[in-house]
Amino acid sequence: MPSLSEETGGRVPALAPGATIGIVGGGQLGRMMALSAKYMGFHVGTLDPTEDCPTAQVADFQIVADYDDTAAIRELAERSDVLTYEFENVDADALDAVRDRVAIPQGTDLLRVTQNRVAEKTFINDHGISTAPWAPVNSRAELDAALGRIGYPAVLKTAEGGYDGHGQIVLRDASDLEQVWPDEDFPPAILEGFVDFAYEASILVSGNGEDHVTFPVVRNIHCDNILHKTIMPAPMDDGMQERARELAVALAKGFALAGTLAIELFVCADGTLIVNELAPRPHNSGHYTIEACDFDQYDLHVRGICGWPLAQPRTLTPAAVMVNVLGQHVAPTREAIAGHPEWHVHDYGKAEAKRDRKMGHITVLTDDAERTVAELDATGCWADITDRG
Ligand SMILES: Nc1ncnc2c1ncn2[C@@H]1O[C@H](COP(=O)(O)OP(=O)(O)O)[C@@H](O)[C@H]1O
Ligand SMILES: [Mg+2]
Repeated sequence: MPSLSEETGGRVPALAPGATIGIVGGGQLGRMMALSAKYMGFHVGTLDPTEDCPTAQVADFQIVADYDDTAAIRELAERSDVLTYEFENVDADALDAVRDRVAIPQGTDLLRVTQNRVAEKTFINDHGISTAPWAPVNSRAELDAALGRIGYPAVLKTAEGGYDGHGQIVLRDASDLEQVWPDEDFPPAILEGFVDFAYEASILVSGNGEDHVTFPVVRNIHCDNILHKTIMPAPMDDGMQERARELAVALAKGFALAGTLAIELFVCADGTLIVNELAPRPHNSGHYTIEACDFDQYDLHVRGICGWPLAQPRTLTPAAVMVNVLGQHVAPTREAIAGHPEWHVHDYGKAEAKRDRKMGHITVLTDDAERTVAELDATGCWADITDRG
């Protein structure tokens, strides 16, 4: 099987508490990484353009600069023993330029593959794992030819830079072609066949360059392409859980993975698992692991990039439900806290509660996920989503 392991290959050299972890990006994922790192006695620095960003509030230092500021990346590298990132649109060349100064155990191939949907789908398929049928398209003529093969319905996505559904056009029939970019603005893109999935799911895998461990498959419910809820476990039998685990480990081995990787899945009614996309970092759908598992996705990310041994994480509860608190949910959820001692409340410390901005999340451990989902919905805090049925 193809592997990118030449550049890292084998266990990451171990770092002792007291070493400094530099995180490119200062959002909530970096904040939760930093919290795990602090428990373990590491120092943390972050690079982010927003002063007092979520990660900076819990880190030892912040470099206030744009993500593509190479002098700032160099400064972070110089002040750190190991460098990581909390989002995938980091300049891989800028990271490569500082590899003589700092360890980057995740490598930059993982970034390059997951930054580009064509490279990502190629990597997944090369490891014998299914995706939606797809074709690279760079012009209207290539789109027409690809639609001839793949057919309607289909999804047209920019190859790079998309998130939360941005940069995507669903093509249900020829009338939707009106929305397609004109040739002069046509970005490198990918056409995917529309998958008629039963539900969406994800699995997290963590590695230290040598060993790889997985978290349970969870079910994800999106609204307007933004994650709304995650339910652990996903409603699948042990055989399907095991198939998901195997594909996650195969991908992790292919990357000689250090740290945490998230794999988004489409689960079809016949039990087929289709990989949608990869995220080379902890993931929104893994927030539940903070309370529901003995080691969470951030602990294992930090341990992995610091070359520590990894145990297969154990789940400490029969089920868990995580629900995102977007800007419009901040006021109602804050009011509801008083009546919900069972809520594990997370707030990312963001200054401004814009609509659809991820401001925090709530996790509930339960032995009956269905009942807990009904109780959360009944609070009315997420009425903008639940009212749609
Ligand atoms: N090929 C597809 N078939 C069906 N639904 C899709 C397909 N691709 C994307 N979607 C839907 O759009 C959402 C966002 O797409 P995704 O590729 O994950 O991009 P993003 O980077 O924005 O998360 C998915 O979670 C899924 O609900
Ligand atoms: Mg996605």
